[in-house]
Parts: sequence; C-alpha cells; structure tokens
Amino acid sequence: MNIFFPKEPEIEKRVSLTLETAEKFSKLGLKIFIEKSFSEHIGTSDEDFAAIGVKIVSRDEGFLDANLVCSVRNLQEEEIDKIKPSTLLISFLDPFNEKVLVKKIKEKNISAISMELVPRITRAQKMDALSSQANLAGYSSVIIASQELQKALPMMMTAAGTISPSKVFVIGVGVAGLQAIATAKRLGAKVEAFDTRPVVEEQVKSLGARFVKIDIGETGETEQGYAKELTPQQIEMQREGMKKVCASADIVITTAQVFGRPAPTLVTSEMVSAMSQGSVIVDMAVGTGGNVEGSVPNEIVDIDGVRIVGNTNLPGELPFHSSQVYSSNIFNLIDEFWNEEDKKLNIDISDEILSICLVSHEKEFINKTIKEIME
Ligand code: NAI
Repeated sequence: MNIFFPKEPEIEKRVSLTLETAEKFSKLGLKIFIEKSFSEHIGTSDEDFAAIGVKIVSRDEGFLDANLVCSVRNLQEEEIDKIKPSTLLISFLDPFNEKVLVKKIKEKNISAISMELVPRITRAQKMDALSSQANLAGYSSVIIASQELQKALPMMMTAAGTISPSKVFVIGVGVAGLQAIATAKRLGAKVEAFDTRPVVEEQVKSLGARFVKIDIGETGETEQGYAKELTPQQIEMQREGMKKVCASADIVITTAQVFGRPAPTLVTSEMVSAMSQGSVIVDMAVGTGGNVEGSVPNEIVDIDGVRIVGNTNLPGELPFHSSQVYSSNIFNLIDEFWNEEDKKLNIDISDEILSICLVSHEKEFINKTIKEIME
C-alpha cells in the first residue's frame, strides 16, 4: 500500500508525518511518499526523509498513486478528483462545517476518517488527536498570555522588594484547561479554575490550584464525559459567580466547549471592563463562537486596556511537538486496523472506533450523526 503525506497550506505549521513515524510505517510494509519540502520549516529536510526510504514526489504524483492520504488540514475540493476511488483520507476533516467536501468525498467513493471524531474510549486513547493537540494548546495558551502580560508570573523576593505572584483563572478544565493549570502552576502563578462538571474539582485541587465554587444547580456530564449545555439562567449565575475572580485575575484562560454546540459566552464585555489595565485573556474557544465577548479569531484585540488573544491554532504554535504527537495518533490508528498478512487495512464498519470516526466508506456515510445531517 502507498501512503502519501501532502504538504499543509501556508497557515498550518504542523505536519502529519515525522521521521520517527515514517520508520514505523516502513516496518508495517507501507511505501511512504511525501510532497516536496514537506517539513523543512520545522527542521526536517527532504533529504532526511529520503535517507530512511521515503519517496519525495510532487503533490499530483502523490495523489495519483496513493491508497492512503494523511494530513492535518483538508485537501481542496478539486483535489478529490485526483484521488483513486477507495483511497482512505485521514485528517481533521471538520465534517460539520465541510459539508460540500464531505458529500464529494462520499460520491467519489473515497473513504474518510475524521480525527476529531475518534471516540474518547480507553482503546482509542493513543489515537485521540483532539487530546494530544488540546494538551499542547493548553500549555501554549499560558506561554502566550505570559508574553502578553507586562508582569512576571512567580512571586520573587528581591533586595529591591517583593513581587507578588500573578493570578491566573482557568475557565473550563478539560484536557487543555488541565494543562493550562499545570503550566501556570509550574511558572509560579496563583491559579484558580472553574468547570461545570463537578468531577473536575478533585483534579484541579490535585494540581495545587483552587477550585472556584459556583452554585448553578444541576449540571452533570454526558456519557462520553462532555459537559451538558447550560440554560441561559445557569449561564447568568455562572457569570455572576465568576465576576470577582475575573476582575482580580491577571490572566484569564477560557476553554469552555460543549460538544457539537457553539461555545457559551461566559465573559461579557462588562466583565472584561472590570479587569485591570494590562491584564490578558486567551479565548481558546474563539474558533467555535468564543467564550469572551469581543474576541476575534486570529487577532489580539485591546478592550479598555485588556488584551484578548483569539488564536485559533494554539497547537500550531508548537509545530514540532504537535506534529510529533499528531503523527503518532495517525500511526496508531492505522496500526490498530492493519492486517499483517495481507499488508492492508481492515475496514470493519461495525468496529466501535471506525463506526464513529469513519465519515464515508464505499459510497455511504458511516458516522450516524453525519449521516443524519447529510441525508
Ligand atoms: P471540551 O474541549 O469539550 O471542553 C472543555 C471544558 O469546558 C470541559 O471540561 C467542559 O466541562 C468545560 N465547560 C463546558 N461548558 C462550561 C461552562 N459553561 N463553564 C465552565 N466550563 C465549561 O473538553 P475536552 O478537553 O475535550 O474533554 C471532555 C471530557 O472528555 C473530559 O471529561 C475529559 O476528561 C474527557 N476525556 C476522556 C478521554 C478518554 O480517553 N477517556 C480522553 C480525553 C478527554
């Protein structure tokens, strides 16, 4: 089988293959192809790949002979015509927003796996790209915020006087939030956090941060461990409870997401105005509607002296490591379904992982929710 890794668009610094995973794919018996200048921007040259047996080809040549095409971002719609039927595409497909592309993929009898849809079950943890990327995004959010802030994070006792620690408030403690807390703690900040899922309190405390208690009534979580959507009244109670904590924070990091729904607006303009001049907010949900009123995707806006960072690709700020873990996730996925004897993939649509992350196969939509919205 031939596996092709095309170059990502200019705005995406992450890549889908590293030298380490290329060697693993070779051992499985796959023939590996990458597009010319595939990851030179992160310090791995075509020659490095060629030295371990990877073939360097043009984009069109890669598509022509591929049985598997793996990338971070989607291919262009017109590129689907260049791919052979029955090829398997693996990427962050963004199927809820890329309906035209998804329809075309299905009609052309191309199979597609959406990395965002890999289920959050123990067996699939090693393929969970949402988590591998969110973890680095959480780290990155604190590093970026600390650079925007005109203060140091740790307490420092010096001959010239004592510098008090900066205060960081993390709203939403999933994978990204936990790493944001851990990073801010390592940098010496005083950290507080809030999440609507009650189970989070213990995790926050175990990282040495304070859990902010706000009574907003029944919240809970879904079977998959995701937060349930709050009522408008609950959101109002939450904002009220967070007002003071936000106002006294130097950095607020918001990560609150509700699966399949737009992110809730949790920090209003009024709450932003109550923060001190020079404080910083990182809205990690800016790509799905935003948790902060006034945040703008891929911009840093200044509202009353408060800087709001709206970076939609925080893992892309650390392309070396985010590529390392993403490419491992892809390898683990392929490895899980690899048939050693036939040297090809076993695509069993009744499998508990494939039945969910496979968007299209043999001219059918496979994931139930995608099927419902597309048909
Ligand atoms: P996410 O990106 O969907 O949401 C981020 C956080 O925002 C969540 O903790 C959520 O509870 C919180 N949130 C939602 N609305 C909020 C509000 N109004 N105020 C404050 N916080 C709010 O979450 P993520 O990081 O994708 O993780 C979701 C769940 O999946 C977590 O329980 C996580 O532990 C679990 N998980 C399980 C894995 C497994 O393999 N078993 C792997 C990865 C995550």
